[in-house]
This record gives sequence, structure tokens and C-alpha cells, in this order.
Amino acid sequence: GRVEAIILVGGFGTRLRPLTLATPKALLPLANVPMLERLVRSLPERVTKVALAVHHQADAIAAHFAAIDCGREVITVPETEPLGTGGAMRNCREHITGTALVFNGDIVSSLDIEAMLAQHRATGALGTLALWEVDDPSRYGVAELDGNAIVGFREKPAAGEEKSRLINAGTYLLEPEVLAMIPAGRKVSVEREIFTQLASAGLHGFPFAGSWIDAGTPESYLAANAMLLEREATAAHPGASVRGNALIAADAEITSSIVGPDTVIGAGVSLDKCVVRRSVLLAGASATGAVIEDCILGPGVAVGDDCSRMVLAAEGELRF
Ligand code: GTP
Repeated sequence: GRVEAIILVGGFGTRLRPLTLATPKALLPLANVPMLERLVRSLPERVTKVALAVHHQADAIAAHFAAIDCGREVITVPETEPLGTGGAMRNCREHITGTALVFNGDIVSSLDIEAMLAQHRATGALGTLALWEVDDPSRYGVAELDGNAIVGFREKPAAGEEKSRLINAGTYLLEPEVLAMIPAGRKVSVEREIFTQLASAGLHGFPFAGSWIDAGTPESYLAANAMLLEREATAAHPGASVRGNALIAADAEITSSIVGPDTVIGAGVSLDKCVVRRSVLLAGASATGAVIEDCILGPGVAVGDDCSRMVLAAEGELRF
């Protein structure tokens, strides 16, 4: 049968500032396609309707989807105040008639949604959470499994207190009863208030392998781009993907990078060559006579001759 989706994209994306000051995180490109558009287009055919739970920069997200056709109904559901992950889902309830497929909007993964849905139906769970195994689970929501049943759920447990290495991968199948459990009209964290309550009471886990990246930090945004580049590059340069009217000079070396539309890469005055490695250049960025490694150049950013070597500092700032 058909399934309706809710995608949570109302967050402020503070960890990706300054990129998210001008563009909502959901519209930042991953290998040249806005990450939310990528997610919507990748959904199985049976997902006939998608509700985007929006708040921060809601208008930009609505305008983007009004201008494209993703082969299914896409609506935006705004919040006057940010309602948190649970409150945002609750706010979409009137648009959902059956099982809801819910996503955090900034996840890139190889999750097989059909297989997860098959398990959800077979177990008769109230909710099924996709689970991903990591070495250090303490920064995430940690699920303790008994068979497929989640018997314990802890959001960001203290180091050493994790009951497993399986973390909440940010994709859920939820029955209408779960949305009905969420208190209306206030901020609710689904992880802290609902999943903890549903442990041992109808919540199941669906562990999967393959790939999973939360593209919400500068490092993981670059990593997500790199992963997609490896998966789908059809490039003029080894390991590079170029989109649109990029002007790339003969004296440019570009490897393992993604170059957006209207960019310029070429020689400078003092350094008659330009090098771009393991980086993402967003629309309108330019690099001339520079060595750029492991960087995100924001929209319209120009890096000129005097910037001979840049690295991405931990806080996501560019350092020279
Ligand atoms: P940071 O500020 O960098 O933590 O990013 P974020 O605001 O996106 O927060 P986080 O990555 O923890 O959020 C996970 C997902 O939930 C993202 O896709 C967010 O857009 C979304 N989200 C978080 N809070 C809200 C909210 O209050 N309302 C809605 N609609 N979505 C939210």
C-alpha cells in the first residue's frame, strides 16, 4: 500500500554556519543536487505524498519544491515556533492517513526502505527505527535490542553507559498511534520523550549496513559529498564532478572534488596553477592561483592569489 512521508527540515543548521545563514541546510547541494531534493527523489514509488516539516528559511524550501516536479505530492507544513523533532511530526499529523515514513532531512544512507517496511509489517511494531552501528555511540541515540525489539533507548548516554553500538539512524516508520502520543502545541524531542517511552512497548529496530552519513557538520558534509562522488561520478577530471557553466583552466588540478555551477578555477598571478583536492565549490565560487584542500567554498566565495594553502579548521572556518 501507499505510505506518506514526513521529512524534518526545520532546524537552524547551526553547525554548518555560515553556509546555512544564506541557504537552509536542506537545500545545500550534495554532489550538486540539494540534499532534500535528493532524498525526495530517492523515495520508493509507493511514497505518494511528502510533508516537509519546515520552520527556519521555510519560504526558500517551499519555493524550491514549487518549481520542480519530484513525481509525487510535496507539501510544506510550517511551524511558527520550532517544535523540535517530535512536535514537528505532530504538526504534520493531519496530512498523514496511515503509516508515516519519517526522516531527519540531513541523512545520506543506503537504507533499504522496502526491506524496513517489510519488517515493520511483519512484526506489527508501533514504530521501527533504522539503526546504524558506530564505534562511539555516545553522541547519538543508542538502542538496546532483544531480537528486533528495542528494549532500551537512551539519547546521548554518558560515555561508558552505552548499552550497544547501534544508533538511531534518523529514519522511522511510525503508526498513527505514535503521532497521537506526541503532545500537541509545544516543543517535543521525539528521541527523549517518545522513543524512551516506547522501548519495550512496541518499538522495534532495523539494523542495516552499507553507508550512513549525517551531513550536518562541515566534516560530514564533505564526507557525504565524497561518498556520492565515488558512487556516481561521471567526470571530466579524475574523481571530480562538474556541474553547469564552470570555467576550468588547463592549469587547474582538480581531484576528488565537486565543482558547482558558475565557478571559476584557474591560474593566478604568483601561482600559475590552481589545485583543488577533496573539496566542494558551491555556486559562483572561484579559486585562482590557490591550493584548496578539504574545503567547502560557499556560494560566491573568491579565493585569490595570496591564499596559497587553506585547511578546514575544526569549527568549520577556513584558515590560511
Ligand atoms: P544544528 O543546529 O547544527 O544542530 O542542526 P539542526 O538544526 O538541523 O539540528 P539536528 O541536526 O539535530 O536536527 C535533525 C533534523 O531535524 C534536521 O533535519 C533538522 O532540520 C530537523 N529539526 C530539528 N529541530 C526541528 C524543529 O524544531 N522543527 C522541524 N520542523 N525540524 C527540526
